[in-house]
Amino acid sequence: PRPPYFAVPLPQPPVLRPASVDGTTDYYEVTARAGSARMLPGTRTTIWGYDGLFPGPTIVSRSGRRTVVRHINELPVPTTPHLHGGHTPADSDGYPTDAIVRTGGSLPDLGRYVGMTMSPSDYQVSYEYRDYVYPLNQRAATLWYHDHRMGFTGPQVYRGLAGFHLVYDDEETRLPLPGGDKDQLLMIVDRAFDGDGQLKYPSTGPSLQHEAGVSSRYHDGVLGDTILVNGVPWPFLEVSNTRYRFRILNASNARRFELALDPPPADGPHFIQVGSDGGLLDRPVGHDLVPIAQAERFDVVIDFGQYRVGDRVTLINRAGSGPTTVVMQFRVVREEADDSWVPGVLADMSEFDALTPDRASGTRAMRFSGGDPWEINNKPFDLHRVDANPKLGATEIWKISTSAHHPVHLHLVQFKIIARTGGLRPTDGGWKDTFDLAPGEDGQVLARFTEYPGVYVFHCHNLEHEDMAMMANVAVE
Ligand code: C2O
Ligand code: CU
Repeated sequence: PRPPYFAVPLPQPPVLRPASVDGTTDYYEVTARAGSARMLPGTRTTIWGYDGLFPGPTIVSRSGRRTVVRHINELPVPTTPHLHGGHTPADSDGYPTDAIVRTGGSLPDLGRYVGMTMSPSDYQVSYEYRDYVYPLNQRAATLWYHDHRMGFTGPQVYRGLAGFHLVYDDEETRLPLPGGDKDQLLMIVDRAFDGDGQLKYPSTGPSLQHEAGVSSRYHDGVLGDTILVNGVPWPFLEVSNTRYRFRILNASNARRFELALDPPPADGPHFIQVGSDGGLLDRPVGHDLVPIAQAERFDVVIDFGQYRVGDRVTLINRAGSGPTTVVMQFRVVREEADDSWVPGVLADMSEFDALTPDRASGTRAMRFSGGDPWEINNKPFDLHRVDANPKLGATEIWKISTSAHHPVHLHLVQFKIIARTGGLRPTDGGWKDTFDLAPGEDGQVLARFTEYPGVYVFHCHNLEHEDMAMMANVAVE
């Protein structure tokens, strides 16, 4: 039976404590292992999580201060942690074939991949753990980390391998935005469960050892009929009649949401957006609807001062049907003075403003199409092929076109959306690392490939599309 709506309070993932710190660096340890979660009433669901949790523990970093994460793997399958949105040197980026393999066993069969046969020599294997070095020379932003294993990202994230990684800086800390328990993370996903309350993912090879992908029936991605926020179904949150900040992440494999409040606020927009994938906007933007594709983040303020004590406000999904139209509920339970506000100017975006098409040294066209397998420029992913080779420091225009709905994600960079069929959406502003394009839509982004040379991937963030070869290599040289 389906769990009831609004029966469980919204939890927040624990903040991870560093294992040690020194003058330049914070050191963390995270272990990927099986855990048991309370997702459905009266049942325990087995998950794979960072430290056995879903969402994993939140890592909190300071911009420009190095963070080293030792990722330990105790799972029976290889893992590949990736910091999504991180401006990271290639050897710490979690290239899909950089595999951490648990000790005590022999090298597992690392899996056949759609359209290619993988051999063990295609992998860079680390046994037991691997240290990831994140310089974090980037602005304050809501990043997240998740598994990225070659051909198996969909099932491994679905089982729970995802967590937040927040970066703070002085510019952001200075702002009078809601803070403390009025600054909440919302990781939204859809999941399906079997009769025993276990996560149901239709892998072709259920052991996740050999056969990557799903049958062509799930070709558009794996959807669930239960919405989880921070790992629990349709939760509620008690709030005061003040402003709250929510960092919203859609960590679903294949579902996109269109978020709104029901009932709407008495006055003003449903959401005041203050940040995007790559951190703060220059100015707040009001929205009555926030479309959020897989991997996107929206940093928004909701003003519960527009409601009365006793009101119950539902966060709804206009893109859903039946149970997936509902996400969670806010209950306005007390009056409180509000000392937070949203200033008219949030951040210095001179670098963003200076990124203009006349700076571009070239243009590349990327067509996301195919189906079986999914392809970029008519080619399924090939580990050994370079698909784009920008020079280090170069600014490029990427023209992206699609056949179906594809949230396009580039590693290494935060880019600027400069064109979209029918014009930019009000939610397209600010630094982005994921660009959601509708079927048949064309768009353009401007990106600067700075600081770190090496081979990175770009791909569709529909995780089943990604696993079914909609990925390519960008070699920054
Ligand atoms: Cu969120 Cu290539 O990943
Ligand atoms: Cu796609």
